[in-house]
Amino acid sequence: MKDIHLIALAVNGNEHEIVVESRRTLADVLRHDLGYTGTHVGCEHGICGACTVLLDGEPVRSCLVFGVQADGCEVRTVEGLADGEELSDLQKAFSRCHGLQCGFCTPGFLMLSEAYLSEQDTVPDEAEVREVLAANLCRCTGYQGIVEAVRQVAEERMG
Ligand code: FES
Ligand code: FES
Repeated sequence: MKDIHLIALAVNGNEHEIVVESRRTLADVLRHDLGYTGTHVGCEHGICGACTVLLDGEPVRSCLVFGVQADGCEVRTVEGLADGEELSDLQKAFSRCHGLQCGFCTPGFLMLSEAYLSEQDTVPDEAEVREVLAANLCRCTGYQGIVEAVRQVAEERMG
């Protein structure tokens, strides 16, 4: 018999109730069960950060979290950044600064950066931004554009 559970979670403000197996990851719940395919899955073992989402405001690797652990939580995914057709300031900065090429890593970098920026009240220096962004991997950009995008948004929000 399968070990299944009814869980309730809010994703980008939308309430969901869903029955999941206890072994199902949050990444799979989001992508396959709820259709939030903006969250990407790369390594599936906690290294690349492509699957980063916010769980009650904290960035987590959704491939390392079980769906049942998100029961009763607020989840924010990359789909929650834009306001309709209007991209967020961070998304615009990634585009403007060439912070993406293939885009596979981008949802994870955006959510990691959004969580980081939301906790700042002064503009961080480049070294600190680089250290934070070192949590995630990008095979394309060389990181410079990503760092610049986050720095620009920090200046816009806190400068
Ligand atoms: S897919 Fe989750 S960290 Fe790589
Ligand atoms: S833009 Fe291709 S992996 Fe980062």
